[in-house]
Amino acid sequence: MKRMEKMSENTTKIRKIGILTSGGDAPGMNAAVRAVTRYALRRGIEVMGIYEGYKGLINGKNYIKKFDARDVSNIIDKGGTIIYSARCPEFKEKEGIAKAAQTCRDLGIDGLVTIGGDGTFRGAYDLSTMIGIPCIGIPATIDNDITATDYAIGYDTALNTTMQMIDRLRDTCESHARCNVVEVMGNNAGYIAIYSAVAVGATAVAIKERTFDEDAAIKKIIQCREAGKRNFIVVISEGANINAEEFAKKIQAVTADANMEIETKFARFAHVVRGGSPTMRDRVTAAKMGVAAVDLLLDGKTDMFMCERHGRIVGTDIMVATYADRKYKATFDPKMAEKFDPSEGDKFSPEVRAEVDGLVAERIAEIDTMLELSENISNYKIVE
Ligand code: F6P
Repeated sequence: MKRMEKMSENTTKIRKIGILTSGGDAPGMNAAVRAVTRYALRRGIEVMGIYEGYKGLINGKNYIKKFDARDVSNIIDKGGTIIYSARCPEFKEKEGIAKAAQTCRDLGIDGLVTIGGDGTFRGAYDLSTMIGIPCIGIPATIDNDITATDYAIGYDTALNTTMQMIDRLRDTCESHARCNVVEVMGNNAGYIAIYSAVAVGATAVAIKERTFDEDAAIKKIIQCREAGKRNFIVVISEGANINAEEFAKKIQAVTADANMEIETKFARFAHVVRGGSPTMRDRVTAAKMGVAAVDLLLDGKTDMFMCERHGRIVGTDIMVATYADRKYKATFDPKMAEKFDPSEGDKFSPEVRAEVDGLVAERIAEIDTMLELSENISNYKIVE
């Protein structure tokens, strides 16, 4: 993993850093804001809290507040983000980036820690390469869809919330001998769906990364009912190529045709799972990544973001991480495949390319292993 670290360094002495959260919020963002602030202050660095993500950086001083240690008190257990978040189209334009850079110059901010998903890091990269402001990213997204890190802040909380909500549905499904089709969050990634499916013993799970056989799933439900099973949970990731609400109707109609009508309800959890108090895993990861991000900035690093790889926190070059992400997503997403140019990898050394291939292979294996696990523990059929 060391090889994936950025070799170029910045020479600016860091005296004051800005911190922002951007994109979809995730439980544990506050714990990261707190860790970055407290540790930077401890290292003698001033901290500016930037409100509403890149929008705040563009709009300048009214959106920015100098933080002392008390400004981040009592937030470690809070969901959402106390410095708020926003999706900011203006930041994709050169003018927006120039305004953000001017804000940094005006306020003497000479380094940034940005907390969010892949869009957040692309923004940070533009700011540092076009304007020269060193940036380090911390991954926080419930979808866990950043290929270079095994783990993003917020994912564990979202998984546990999803699992607990499905458990509640299962209670009532069992009482009434019903089926519930549940659409869970995850636009471009099925991780929340497959992990929660295994954790609740779902009968079937559909994710964007793999094709889903609707007829086989219904056949399985019928076989399981014949074997005496009362409740059925089907988990569908919001990004999967299937309409969960329609599928619920189809299950009821097909089972009715088979003379065993299974009343089937539909539920969409949506943003509910983005809120709530972060789990211990999310808080501790936020603490580790927050401290490591400040260390990287103070070591003169830029254009990197924190990753967890096999339990270790490491910094990864944003360009390499972006390439890994595109390469992995092109393996299952036709739109990404169309845009992905394999020669993108030519600018990296053979070692970096091999590491990226390793990351992609790990993600593919994770998806397939989890789907197989789900099938192995949810099927009543005897396998020869
Ligand atoms: O943050 C990830 C995510 O929650 C996805 O799971 C979901 O598709 C998307 O964000 C929703 O975005 P918004 O908050 O803009 O509705």
